[in-house]
Amino acid sequence: MRRWRTRAFAASISMLATSAFAADIPPKDVAFGDDGVTESLTGKPGDPAHGAEVFKSRKLGNCLACHANEEMAGELFHGTVGPALDGVADRYDEGYLRAIVVNAKEIFTDETVMPGFYSLNVGQHVAEQFQGKTILSAQDVEDVVAYLETLKE
Ligand code: HEC
Repeated sequence: MRRWRTRAFAASISMLATSAFAADIPPKDVAFGDDGVTESLTGKPGDPAHGAEVFKSRKLGNCLACHANEEMAGELFHGTVGPALDGVADRYDEGYLRAIVVNAKEIFTDETVMPGFYSLNVGQHVAEQFQGKTILSAQDVEDVVAYLETLKE
């Protein structure tokens, strides 16, 4: 019993150490390839349930401000600036979805109105408090991508 406990303790310590050392990919180092951004920003799987929260939260993704999404029909307002995201996982692979969320300018054009959620290139007149920061954290991006992956028709 005692021995087992010690081992379990040692295992939890080493897990802590890993999470403390495994750094997120910084925004400037995200690699865009032909298949988008294929490498996870955090190395940890995304949580689709939290991704759905980020998606609808006005303070976080606020994706609904521009995109309709049938699955969230209960939410009050669905924008129409961007395409509806129903079935988006059938249209794009994970790497491409991640690339769109990280920095839509890399995928569409510089003129796209979709914000780069994990980019420091957010525009010219950025209030000081937002300089050097991304809209979403690396894990929020992974969570949103995991949520988008569930949108199949
Ligand atoms: C200010 C408006 C705006 C916001 C906010 C926004 N988008 Fe977009 N999005 C667009 C537009 C517009 C396009 C279409 C590409 C273009 O014309 O620039 C697009 C395209 C997309 C696409 C590709 C859809 C397709 O079928 O081609 C995905 C996926 C996407 N957005 C996801 C998101 C997610 C996830 C969020 C929230 C984290 C988000 N968008 C927030 C405007 C927005």
